[in-house]
Amino acid sequence: AGGLTPLLASGSAQADSAGAGPVTVPPPFTVRMPTLPVLSPISGPAGQDTYAVTIKEAAREIIPGVRTKVLTYDGHFPGPVLRARTGRKVVIRHRNTLTMPVAVHLHGGNVSPDNDGGPMDTFAPGTSRTYTYPNQQPGAGLWFHDHAHHMESEHVFRGLSATYLLSDDNERSLPLPAGQYEVPIALRDARFDESGQLVYVMDDAFGRTTILANGRPTPYFEVAARKYRFRLLNSSNMRFFQLRLSDGGQMIQIGSDGGLLERPFTTDTIGLSPAERADVVIDFSRYPVGTKIVLENTLGPGTPDQVGKVMRFDVVRTAPDPSRVPNALRTLAALPPATVQRTVVLSMDEDGRQEPQGFMDGQVWDHHRIDQTITHGTSEIWTVTNANKLVPHNFHMHLVQFRLLERNGAPVGPAEAGLKDTVRLFPGETVKLHATFDTYRGTYVYHCHLLDHSAMGMMANFRIR
Ligand code: C2O
Ligand code: CU
Repeated sequence: AGGLTPLLASGSAQADSAGAGPVTVPPPFTVRMPTLPVLSPISGPAGQDTYAVTIKEAAREIIPGVRTKVLTYDGHFPGPVLRARTGRKVVIRHRNTLTMPVAVHLHGGNVSPDNDGGPMDTFAPGTSRTYTYPNQQPGAGLWFHDHAHHMESEHVFRGLSATYLLSDDNERSLPLPAGQYEVPIALRDARFDESGQLVYVMDDAFGRTTILANGRPTPYFEVAARKYRFRLLNSSNMRFFQLRLSDGGQMIQIGSDGGLLERPFTTDTIGLSPAERADVVIDFSRYPVGTKIVLENTLGPGTPDQVGKVMRFDVVRTAPDPSRVPNALRTLAALPPATVQRTVVLSMDEDGRQEPQGFMDGQVWDHHRIDQTITHGTSEIWTVTNANKLVPHNFHMHLVQFRLLERNGAPVGPAEAGLKDTVRLFPGETVKLHATFDTYRGTYVYHCHLLDHSAMGMMANFRIR
């Protein structure tokens, strides 16, 4: 494990640690990874869970001994976990104490247009907004994050993202690792200046080379020699992760964006583009107590020294393990026949990136323009292409969980065989997806979830009527 990773220089050193010399990110595995706090409901009408969240600026210790200014849901960095149940409504009142408008979007949620927290549906500083989530969808590892147009990228980078774990009866009936052995982990990158403050620069893919797991730089996490269920979220603005264990050991992937897969599968690598989730079981019982296993990342940008290590699992004790990963996890509904086919092409300027713009089908997002009109109750097949030669993208639709039919003309692998709301698109790739629009009517967005790209216009509207 190498020495200190020097922080990238930047213009705006702030007062917090002035005079103390430049702040550096600590060596890997010297900071413990915290678990994420779980939000508690407040009292409210029976039959629903009511929450009150304050969106506020806070100073949090990301680098030991340094207070970093962040934007938070209720003071937490990264955001907390909200645990919801299928069939039970959640009502959240958010109070905006920032100086900018915000919007809160439940990513992967099947919600009505007025509760979707879309890019123009913001609420102003000093005001509150209540969102109602009916949770009439199967269990899934969802998340919520800011979506105020042109600001979502900076807001999310500075901390406005949180985990929303929706579980259903089927999932709860399975003997999967639970309680302290089910651990949500939010992975992302960040960039700090010499005083340890976050540096936001639009489209700064190459500057954000500090990896955070649950808000701490390349931490360690103590585990027992038994199975754990990790709910992984890539909450980075633009970074793709390709994860592996340092000993090449197997992981069992049991779920993706839209919840459990039909069947678990073992793999030595997990890919996560921004906003994607993976539900993964790792069995540490194969390791003697005292073993340290690094969760590595094999993708850039950034050198392996900077971004190649994500966190470390330290096996420190034994523990009983009644948990099991069943061979059948859930049944996915058969796909209704699709009646409409569409194509969508994502692109952005690759040269002369003074004022880069992002495009869907050659157009920058216009919130007045309806780009696709869909008949309620139908299923469609969308063929989505990344036309760029160098820049990766991904594709996210609000409202629906879709199924991937093909990637580059071939059937998709097991990691992409379940319900998805976000799909990666490396340069030149094409995917074919199947979506059914049989719940709400109204206007929603689809966009690249490299948030700096969607902020640059790589977004479009679909309307269901
Ligand atoms: Cu995470 Cu428009 O979404
Ligand atoms: Cu993109």
